[in-house]
Amino acid sequence: MIRSDPKILPASAENIALAGQSIRQGGLVAFPTETVYGLGADATNEQSVAQIFAAKERPRFTPLIIHFAATAAAAQAVDFNALADELAETFWPGALTLVLPRRRDCAVSFLAGAGLDTLAVRVPNHPVAQALINEAACPIAAPSANRSGTVSPTTAAHVAENLPAVTVVLDGGACPLGIESTVIDLTDESPVLLRPGGVTREEIEAVTGPLANPEFAGQASKSPGTRDRHYAPGLPLRLNAESARSGEALLGFGPGAPKDAANLSPTGDIVEAAANLFALIRALDRPEFRAIAVMPVPETGLGAAINDRLRRAAAQYGDRREP
Ligand code: TXA
Ligand code: MG
Repeated sequence: MIRSDPKILPASAENIALAGQSIRQGGLVAFPTETVYGLGADATNEQSVAQIFAAKERPRFTPLIIHFAATAAAAQAVDFNALADELAETFWPGALTLVLPRRRDCAVSFLAGAGLDTLAVRVPNHPVAQALINEAACPIAAPSANRSGTVSPTTAAHVAENLPAVTVVLDGGACPLGIESTVIDLTDESPVLLRPGGVTREEIEAVTGPLANPEFAGQASKSPGTRDRHYAPGLPLRLNAESARSGEALLGFGPGAPKDAANLSPTGDIVEAAANLFALIRALDRPEFRAIAVMPVPETGLGAAINDRLRRAAAQYGDRREP
């Protein structure tokens, strides 16, 4: 049985404490929730969050769910409205994820939210997940603990088979629900069901009234995947720039970039570049510049996801300029 695999640790109090310490120090830990196993990292650490995308081999940056031990902790990261209060009161801890606006002082990494102005938050209802978040003493960003494009794992053995690069899997047995959380977007006037999951539409509608489906909601741009509503810089992006032209801010990459330029990674480390991507674009997106010139980033590893995001930001601007 794969239980003998050294990477799989029984979820004893001692191992949960060690795993919490590992997360605080920047490591990744796969852990059980009531829905599926998550691949967790300190949500406030850009570098650790970048490691999640690297481990999952995700071809692009999709926003992650941020896990909190209690509603009060989640309310420090996002702005709750009356409906969110009611849903949290009714379904948390539980298999419901709420998409809400990031607070200005939100400590969660921009990469974890894929650069969006909103954040998906939930309080899981599983003793191991709860204990881990409390031991780590930070919010935990966690997508399902599977390689991109494969099914979500519901046992520790599934995680170890599917994500061999992950060093620690806390084994808390099979996930009781075995299906991902329901994702509800509460950032528009009416709530939108982005992903069906563990809490049923009927249960939620008993609280919210009728839920819109993303395809029928006015903004077709906000459902997960290709239609994510992304943070769009106010400035146009010029890709594959060798240097800044007059009036442009320069976003560099690697040791060849000018010393005074903002640099995704001065050493050319692609994981570090991913960690810095959204925060640096935001920092350069200022009215005194007319554009952001971005130096080439290699397509290797997370470079593919970085370039995907840069290309879409550049195209997005082009679209907005069209009549
Ligand atoms: O049950 C679950 O939700 C599991 C456990 C580990 O909590 N997690 C999970 O995460 O399924 P993931 O990354 O596989 O799916 C997250 C979903 C995606 O559909 C993503 O598009 C959506 O949540 N999402 C996250 N942040 C969002 C945001 N700001 N706006 C819209 N959708 C968001
Ligand atoms: Mg998933």
